[in-house]
Amino acid sequence: MTTLSPLFDLGSQPLIDARTELIREVLDGLRSRPRTLKPWILYDDLGSRLFEQITDLPEYYPTRTERSLLSRHANAIVASVTDGSQPLRVVELGAGSASKTCLLLAAATRLHLDVVYMPLDVSGDALDLACTNIQNSFPEVLIEPMVVNYVDSPPQLEEFEGSTLALYLGTSIGNFTPTESRTILRNLGSQLTRQDAFLLGTDLVKDESSLIAAYQDSQGVTAAFNLNILNRLNRELDADFDLSGFRHCARWNSFESRIEMHLESTRSQAIQIPAAGLKLDFRTGETIHTENSYKFTDETIRALLFDSGFAPQMTWKDARQWYALTLSHTCE
Ligand code: AVI
Repeated sequence: MTTLSPLFDLGSQPLIDARTELIREVLDGLRSRPRTLKPWILYDDLGSRLFEQITDLPEYYPTRTERSLLSRHANAIVASVTDGSQPLRVVELGAGSASKTCLLLAAATRLHLDVVYMPLDVSGDALDLACTNIQNSFPEVLIEPMVVNYVDSPPQLEEFEGSTLALYLGTSIGNFTPTESRTILRNLGSQLTRQDAFLLGTDLVKDESSLIAAYQDSQGVTAAFNLNILNRLNRELDADFDLSGFRHCARWNSFESRIEMHLESTRSQAIQIPAAGLKLDFRTGETIHTENSYKFTDETIRALLFDSGFAPQMTWKDARQWYALTLSHTCE
């Protein structure tokens, strides 16, 4: 069981037994063909730090493009959900460090609104970071974090006297299959009313070389991030992966409209994972598929939102049209 010592009250949801879940995923994914590992396994402590480094890389444009869109349009986004006379609740799925959320909270507090910030995440550690960052920058904002697996079930938001602005930023939706994405958004929409709004950040389809560069950077940070998944299995499940026997590769799958991250075995080798009772034989060139990052078009964003019960109202894009922020209301 992961032990968490939250600085904030993280709500009453049961915490997830990460080791049991990890063993289950390893048994499912590494015995199947093609072999896979679920992307959440990438995000242990080191993986989360490496991901933060990725967001600063010159080739990884999504984070800085989204930040600049938010800084330019934060006032309009907040104004679309409240006229300033009612309290505002900002609910954020998968808040991470919440660094970009500050731009929206700054716009809300400039209107002298009573603001409640509610970050939702499966990880208590990630929530602590988001809460600490927001509390330091906005002492006047009330923070109500919730540990919840919003992928599997609706987040169960309490009724709120005011409007809610829900956020799913950082193109995190792209790490889920189209079916999972629709489930996540439908679950979220079931908790919102007509006066609320939802802001979704999505990375857009672009030339293949820019996409590959963003996931196969010249400094090798994304490679270290991907290979760390094997390190995690070594540390937590006593596996004996030799990292020099695998190499990171990013591929553009145009049919599925997604970047895929794989780890390719550079030789034939046998791997033991004692905690999962597994012995695996890898052939040269055999891969473990670790992550998908779906890329969207105007049409696929609209289809995703409509299928999930949202009506898109407004879209903001950067000058290169590489990234989109879409504001929607619920249809029901
Ligand atoms: C977290 N997620 C949106 C990132 C992405 O772009 O799909 C994860 C990532 N993987 C490698 N680089 C970034």
